[in-house]
Amino acid sequence: MSEFALGDVPLIAPHYQPSGLMPVKTMDEYRVLYQQSIENLGQYWAKVAQELEWMEPWQVDMEGSLPDFRFFSGGTTNVSVNCIDRHARANGAKTALIWRSETGERREWTYHQLPPETARFATSLKAMGVGKGDVVAIFLPNLLETFAAVHACYRIGAIYNIVFSGFSPEALFDRLIDTQPRVVVTADGTFRRGRVVPLKAALDKVIDRLPSIEHVVVIRRTGQDVTMRAPRDIYWHEAFNDNTPLADPVPVEANEPGFIIYTSGTTSRPKGLVHSGVGFLVGTYHNVRYSLDIRPEDVYWCTADTGWLTFPIFELVGGLAHGVTAIVYEGAMDYPNPSTFYQIMAEHRVTKIFTAPTWLRMLARYGPDLPAAYDLSPLELIGLVGEPLDPATWQWVQRHVGAGQVDINNTYGQSETGSAWVSSVAGVTPLKPGSCGCALPGHAYAIVDAKGQPVATNGTGILTITAPFPALARTIWHDPERFTTQYFSQFPGQYTTFDSAVQDRDDQLWILGRVDDVINVAAHRLSTMEMESAILDLDGVAESAVIGVDDAVKGQVPVAFITTRQATITADEWTHRVTEQIAENIGAIAKPAQVFVVDAMPKTRSGKIVRRLLKEILLSGEVKGDITGLENPEVIDALCATIRPEGR
Ligand code: PRX
Repeated sequence: MSEFALGDVPLIAPHYQPSGLMPVKTMDEYRVLYQQSIENLGQYWAKVAQELEWMEPWQVDMEGSLPDFRFFSGGTTNVSVNCIDRHARANGAKTALIWRSETGERREWTYHQLPPETARFATSLKAMGVGKGDVVAIFLPNLLETFAAVHACYRIGAIYNIVFSGFSPEALFDRLIDTQPRVVVTADGTFRRGRVVPLKAALDKVIDRLPSIEHVVVIRRTGQDVTMRAPRDIYWHEAFNDNTPLADPVPVEANEPGFIIYTSGTTSRPKGLVHSGVGFLVGTYHNVRYSLDIRPEDVYWCTADTGWLTFPIFELVGGLAHGVTAIVYEGAMDYPNPSTFYQIMAEHRVTKIFTAPTWLRMLARYGPDLPAAYDLSPLELIGLVGEPLDPATWQWVQRHVGAGQVDINNTYGQSETGSAWVSSVAGVTPLKPGSCGCALPGHAYAIVDAKGQPVATNGTGILTITAPFPALARTIWHDPERFTTQYFSQFPGQYTTFDSAVQDRDDQLWILGRVDDVINVAAHRLSTMEMESAILDLDGVAESAVIGVDDAVKGQVPVAFITTRQATITADEWTHRVTEQIAENIGAIAKPAQVFVVDAMPKTRSGKIVRRLLKEILLSGEVKGDITGLENPEVIDALCATIRPEGR
């Protein structure tokens, strides 16, 4: 039972042909480069950094150790120059961004259009009193202006605090009271599933309690009525015009803070992770190269929301650093209809997609007829991050969306790591449906037991990071001690991911979920991810979530939740099928104590099933915890009605 069964499936050779830009061409070359990089991390990352443009050279490649480290000390540059100006100079006529929305609108900006919009807004921020090191909050959906706003901050060395546009006023307040921004950039509203979501009004509800805010800049997006209080509030289109001077990019030292992003605490208050501006640039540039092999001719679409770190990593910074042509999508991808996503892919001849496993499960749920109706032949690669990917979905997507030819690169990272550092090397390292590939060069790690000792191959342990890399978060805003105790106290000198992982016999890494998601049934350590994967293999199951609940006899027992595509099968029959499936694929010991068929899972906007809410409902019959930021808060009532502990 301690052996990891999922890893036994054979490796698949990649279909994707790596471009001349990919630094390694074969698995052996990858192995050699990985080893060399780990032996001299400073030298390795310096070589990567040299591909970017610098203002002043650095003196030392790397100093210190976890959690106190520096890369490229003394070197200065500006992120906006590397993501925008560099490409405007080289190929300004190239389309940088294609904005699409669920409302059917379309706008585009070339690399020529990005610098003036960015640099003029930067001037306007300066006029509002924002200087180097000041905080600007970005409370925006996916718009073209979002790129200009973020890069304007980089341009003048302001620290931006990116806040997910789906957050409630209170969740927004919690973040802004912590970072004390001088300016907030927001929109009147945004569209989501045909509804207008107010943003300025959400801010207005809490702004009187946020005395640090001197100005609010509002992008007119929905055209809805908003209250504008002069002189504090100003519209984006009135903040600057064609005569506004262009702000020069300021030199920023390689380790200075660039932005703050909050990770949602499940039990405690959210943590404001601080990433360095330039370190994040170097790390995400590297990440996008290896995971996606972006080429000049690619049309690339990262479907994440601005407020989730995947978007800055893969599009806003890492994508633009490669001068990519990127799609920016505002709204729900299955709105106004389930084929919206395929329609946009076909229309723009998208070659590479970066998304989340949950979206692929949604596509599978909508069925194979939709992708069959569109020409998706330009598509070559689908990258993913965020949660476990079950092999059945991998197979379905490869067959129906990718015509058997498209590689699916399931990557692993955290807001803390500022990059998806576990990933297949596009077109180079082999794939295994459900695994996360291998550690990218420059990333040292271990899988350890509770005492910090490395576990054997194919054994489950806790994934740790054993040496610094440039994109790793540097601290927690205003709480450096919490940063150290939270991540570095369990295994001194190592960063703890709190994820449990396996390295299988083919050197593929599997992330089984948070350490809490490995449950202990009658002294057997069972992975809920493995159970979920087995359940998803059943015909007609759309989604599955497994949690562990305390049990007087067995310590813990698994409880399963599913959504289905087949309304004709009764709940009792599903319980039978799920139980048998688990018994067959994992073992009788892992049989769930209960199986619930629910209409919908509670999910974050980034697509994660919020298992802790399922557990809370099961144990208490209600939800007291924070549900702001849920994609679908309306499902909670239905779940409370359906989910009953045994005997209640
Ligand atoms: O538990 C892991 C899960 O998502 C967590 C990180 O979430 P977040 O900070 O939102 O990351 C944003 C991505 C840059 C991890 O601790 N996770 C992420 N990727 C995977 C995953 N779990 C399994 N498989 C993955 N590929």
